[in-house]
Amino acid sequence: MQQLTSSQQLSAFVRGGDVGLVPTMGSLHAGHASLIERAKQENECVIVSIFVNPLQFNKTDDLRKYPQTTIADIELLEKLNVDAVYLPKYADIYPEGDEVQRLSAGVVGESFEGAARPGHFDGMLTVVHRLLQQVNPSHAYFGEKDAQQLCLARQMVDDLEMPVKIIGCDLIRDADGLALSSRNVHLSNAARNNALRLYQALTRAAEDFAEGERQAQNLLSTIHGMLNGADIKVAYCAVVNDKTFAELNDEVDCGSRVIIAAEVGGVHLLDNMLLVS
Ligand code: PAF
Repeated sequence: MQQLTSSQQLSAFVRGGDVGLVPTMGSLHAGHASLIERAKQENECVIVSIFVNPLQFNKTDDLRKYPQTTIADIELLEKLNVDAVYLPKYADIYPEGDEVQRLSAGVVGESFEGAARPGHFDGMLTVVHRLLQQVNPSHAYFGEKDAQQLCLARQMVDDLEMPVKIIGCDLIRDADGLALSSRNVHLSNAARNNALRLYQALTRAAEDFAEGERQAQNLLSTIHGMLNGADIKVAYCAVVNDKTFAELNDEVDCGSRVIIAAEVGGVHLLDNMLLVS
């Protein structure tokens, strides 16, 4: 595996043919591994980027605490037989320094996770755009755990007519259902137990949908009811159109997505589930 530590080394490495990019902020887990496995099946060359993007953090403390495990990440990528890992420095991604002009994630970028973390999606799209320009992949892989991020990345690529296909990959869970996230390392045992309720509540709502419940408000009441009494501070919980992320307040169709974010034991967690009958 090649370790590319500058944009110059990346340019010298990038080649034609099918190239899959898996953009990450490191602290890799089985969710990332599943994106990489999918990228390997669909491309001749797979590049994983590791860059903790300061632009997408609205709180300096959150950025400071973001887990960084680069040595272990590189070992994992070696084992997964990735062709190259791109480890840019800030100046490789943002040569203009603090003058960087952020892309706008628009109205969708201001809702849900964007409302909970103002500016997050502008920063996320800015870095994804730069990575796509530098790597020029044919495919880029994003997990469905960050469903709003995936929706915005797809919209950006369509709007800017970028020659890359955005591939959404299944959310990966621990055996007991907790959605994998780099932030899970910060959960105490008690908080982790509480966090499981998010999965359990979404599962119940998805079961109700499968059994015929079509009213968004009833699905959401079920979720809130199941979280009641637990030490969980819900930031948002909604049913959305999976393609546009528009909120659905009345009747819900098959293929809509129920999304939730909550603070559990001081950790901001996201989860979601597709509603299918
Ligand atoms: O999902 C992430 O890890 C990040 O938001 C991404 C896509 C790598 C951009 O920094």
